[in-house]
Amino acid sequence: MEQTLSIIKPDAVAKGVIGKIVDRFESNGLKIAAMRKIKLSREDAGKFYEVHKERPFFGELVDFMTSGPVVVMVLEGDNAVVKNRELMGATNPKEAAPGTIRADFAQSIDANAVHGSDSLENAKGEIEFFFAKRDIS
Ligand code: CMP
Repeated sequence: MEQTLSIIKPDAVAKGVIGKIVDRFESNGLKIAAMRKIKLSREDAGKFYEVHKERPFFGELVDFMTSGPVVVMVLEGDNAVVKNRELMGATNPKEAAPGTIRADFAQSIDANAVHGSDSLENAKGEIEFFFAKRDIS
């Protein structure tokens, strides 16, 4: 059984589609093993996305991710990392396949509704960033 980290981003929280997005996960065999609604500080967002620090979009990414509350979750299930990425669709919603979360709920590459870990190794680090062991069940 794998675990992966999912974030419902400020655009989707503001649109009131938390429940619709959670339903996509639960209806497709991913259990919510942990869940919390939080407002990221600039320090949190910068650390979480440290891998993108040198990318030209880093400043906008931090601005956006701190613009409103987010929902952080641990998703658990068979093949959870890949399954979550399939359900999310491509990073750029204009390229996301029909029926994916980003095709249905995202506006732009910045306001793209959800984040999901891109590998099992990164999932472990991203989960530890937000959750203690006792938070996950
Ligand atoms: P996410 O999966 O959260 O990981 C980094 C985020 O940076 C990504 O989703 C996008 O929302 C955002 N981003 C903005 N511009 C780009 C870009 N050119 N390539 C990749 N990610 C981008």
